[in-house]
Amino acid sequence: MEGHGESSANVHRSYVLSLLWLQYLTMPNSPSSFNELDFVQNPSVLEQIVSRTELLGFNMASEPKTGALLRTLAASKCGGRFLELGTGTGIATAWLLAGMDAASTLISVDTDASVQEVARDFLGGDRRLTLVLEDGLEFLRKEPTGVYDLVFADAMPGKYDGLRDCLRVVKPGGFYIIDDMLPQPNWPEGHAEKIPVLIQALSLLGLPGNLHHLCLGRNVI
Ligand SMILES: C[S@@+](CC[C@H](N)C(=O)[O-])C[C@H]1O[C@@H](n2cnc3c(N)ncnc32)[C@H](O)[C@@H]1O
Repeated sequence: MEGHGESSANVHRSYVLSLLWLQYLTMPNSPSSFNELDFVQNPSVLEQIVSRTELLGFNMASEPKTGALLRTLAASKCGGRFLELGTGTGIATAWLLAGMDAASTLISVDTDASVQEVARDFLGGDRRLTLVLEDGLEFLRKEPTGVYDLVFADAMPGKYDGLRDCLRVVKPGGFYIIDDMLPQPNWPEGHAEKIPVLIQALSLLGLPGNLHHLCLGRNVI
């Protein structure tokens, strides 16, 4: 479990990381081999979660760059309310917790008890976290409007199903975050066709002026 002391230290690290990145961008003759992950300190529990994830053969885990950005965004919302749809084994959950301050809370929802159990084992002792075993869309439909500072929609619900339900729960000024928008070998048949539909839906929705949406990963759009 991340201690809150460590969590607040991570807040500073997160901002330092952003500054380092900006500094790099302005350096003349930046080496093309620069790897920003060299500057990222992983959440302490991540290595153990990754080991269990590999043992399980779970191949849908979030990438380190996505995790690092989630941690930075979480650190920007003091006392924030966060929602993750699709806990998986808890990899992004661990990154979000590492950025959150002691007053913030995170709910993470999944339908698969066998993968969520890994998150429960390694992160379940963190009182800021509530793990929910439920269909993401059913969960979303019961939620009040405008309650989350950040939603990481990392399952079909909230992204390809129930997009409106998901955007509805994001606070004005909050973050709606999705990734995995470029082709991947583990995509099921028929999945690729959903991507342009989602992108168009996002652009047509007429979102509130100050709702930001970021699309991350192998895939910034
Ligand atoms: C891309 S993975 C999540 C990865 C995780 N966020 C991470 O950082 O490693 C998608 C997850 O969505 C879950 N899922 C599938 N259908 C779901 C549903 N209807 N509601 C909630 N979760 C669902 C799967 O069990 C899977 O764990």
